[in-house]
Amino acid sequence: MMMGKTCSKTTSNLLVKRGERQKARNTPAGKETNAPLGVFVLEYDASNEDIEKTRNWKPIIKIAVSGAAGMISNHLLFKIASGEVFGPDQPVALRLLGSERSQVALEGVAMELEDCLFPLLREVDLGIDAKKVFEDADWALLIGAKPRGPGMERGDLLEMNGGLFAEQGKALNEVAKKTCKVMVVGNPCNTNALICMANAPNLDRRNFHALTRLDENRAKCQLALKAGVFYESVSNVTIWGNHSTTQVPDFVNAKIGGERCTDVIDDQTWLENDFTPAIQTRGGLLIKKWGRSSAASTAVSIADAMKALVTPTKEGDWFSSAVITDGNPYGIEEGLVFSMPCRSKGDGSYEIVEGLKINDWLRERIKKSEEELSNERSCVSHLMGVEGASCVILEDTLLPGEM
Ligand code: LMR
Repeated sequence: MMMGKTCSKTTSNLLVKRGERQKARNTPAGKETNAPLGVFVLEYDASNEDIEKTRNWKPIIKIAVSGAAGMISNHLLFKIASGEVFGPDQPVALRLLGSERSQVALEGVAMELEDCLFPLLREVDLGIDAKKVFEDADWALLIGAKPRGPGMERGDLLEMNGGLFAEQGKALNEVAKKTCKVMVVGNPCNTNALICMANAPNLDRRNFHALTRLDENRAKCQLALKAGVFYESVSNVTIWGNHSTTQVPDFVNAKIGGERCTDVIDDQTWLENDFTPAIQTRGGLLIKKWGRSSAASTAVSIADAMKALVTPTKEGDWFSSAVITDGNPYGIEEGLVFSMPCRSKGDGSYEIVEGLKINDWLRERIKKSEEELSNERSCVSHLMGVEGASCVILEDTLLPGEM
């Protein structure tokens, strides 16, 4: 049946256990049928359909989100539910993964989603079991991760979050659609994506991304400000490598108003010594000022990264995403999740853009990020089903948010 209105007055606050869905109108508002464990469903009454309005809607897609009660999700979910990411004819089901600690907050998130009256939002499922929440997912946005605690080495951080992403990879492997696109945001996101991928062999390795669009957006902003132009004039910006302080924001191949960035900003010293470290460490500066990690801008960049995959890339341009290096044209070690220039036809897939100029300055820095990711992979190889690799991290490199 086609669906029209998002929220009928009979459905407010209704939480119904999966498999025991009841007609919304039969259950009093706010009355939960079970303790909130497992997957719950906020289901909209479809009895008063506006057939005309929904006639051309596409089949519903399911978007699973981990860390769903966190700050990033608190911005992102509303963008997705509003139609901003997938368009005005794409109804969505949100499947929100929380933890025992956050499950009540998650109900609050669902209430707010309901109160927004988004016509395209057809269903909200809440749960703390990845194997239920990821069922039939078309997209999995893996946002939840723990920050490094006091005295923890990078290896400890990798281990702690790696375990979580191995579990989530297994769950995706078992229950998500085989075509599911996975966007890893929880840090250290490149290596978490690699672990997740290794534990989900049923999914195509090319469907995994780690988010570096935030770094690309940061770079575009700083270049535009320096050049005194609108942000849209800045194009062809690549972030190479890891979402860490070794990332390489590429001003060599970037363009401003269609011209080479280095011709428009004729200040190599600024580009190398100010712009580059500013992008690498911007997350940390923000934490210093805000007292917490970036949330709104991260959410915007996740939406941008998703849109980049479902919209054809402008002729001649590209976007950054950390993807599997298998068969890459830049000689980067295979089997890493590494940020590179990508293009999409808009069908959810991508290709790596070939032929960017890699000068000595870029080569040296790209190599450093590659080594960092290679070391990270050795440290978590046991989570990827490979025994015997040694974990050697020579330099305790940082996430953008760590200082
Ligand atoms: C960012 O780049 O803002 C985040 O990745 C920072 C962090 O470490 O949480």
